[in-house]
Amino acid sequence: MKKEFRKKVIADRKKLNSESLLENSSIITENLLSLDCIKEAKNIMLYLDFNNEVKTDELINELITLRKIVSSPITLKEERVLIPSQITDLQNGIKIGAYGIREPKQDDSLEVDVKDLDVVIVPAVAYDKNCYRLGYGGGFYDRFLNRLRDDAITIGIAFDLQIFDYIPKEDHDAQLDYIITETQILTPNK
Ligand SMILES: Nc1ncnc2c1ncn2[C@@H]1O[C@H](COP(=O)(O)OP(=O)(O)O)[C@@H](O)[C@H]1O
Ligand SMILES: [Mg+2]
Repeated sequence: MKKEFRKKVIADRKKLNSESLLENSSIITENLLSLDCIKEAKNIMLYLDFNNEVKTDELINELITLRKIVSSPITLKEERVLIPSQITDLQNGIKIGAYGIREPKQDDSLEVDVKDLDVVIVPAVAYDKNCYRLGYGGGFYDRFLNRLRDDAITIGIAFDLQIFDYIPKEDHDAQLDYIITETQILTPNK
C-alpha cells in the first residue's frame, strides 16, 4: 500500500520542470521565513534536497545569514540514524553521502545535540491534510523526530502535488506541526 503510493507520487514529482521547481521552492522558502517560529528559532535542522524535493540551498544560506545555527543530517545507513551536523559553508562543506544524498562533510561540521534543535524541517514523499507524513520507507525521520525536545517544532515543506486527503499510514508515522507548500500552510486539526 505505502510502496505503490510512494512510487506514484515520486514519479509525479519527477515530472516537474526545473523552472517550476525553482520558482515554487522560492515561494515555499518565503512562506517559511514568514513564520514566527522560524524568526524566533536559534537552532534549525533542515535537509539537503535531492530528486526534485523542495530545494533548500537558498533557505540554508538565508538562515545562515540570519545567524541561526543551521544543521543538516548525516545519515548512518546501518544504524538507521540521522546525526544533525552544522553547516557553515554550503559551497565547500558538503559531500555526497548515503543514498546519494548530499550531507555535511564530517571534518568540516560540528555535531549538533538533538535536544538543542528548536525547529526541524523534513523532506517527504507525501502528506495528508492533517500533517501526517509518508517518507521514503526507511523510517529515519519517524525515529529521529521521537528524540526531539517536546517543544521543538517540526515542519514539512512540499509541493501541492504531494498533499492528499488520505495517505497510507501506520501508528509510528510522524504528524508534523506545519506543512508548507507554494499555496498553503497546513496545521493539524485539534
Ligand atoms: N519509531 C520507530 N521505532 C522503530 N522502528 C520504526 C520507528 N518508526 C518506523 N520504524 C520502522 O521503520 C520502517 C519504515 O517505516 P515507514 O514509516 O514505512 O517509513 P517512512 O516513514 O520512511 O515512510 C518500518 O518497518 C517501521 O516499523
Ligand atoms: Mg513513516
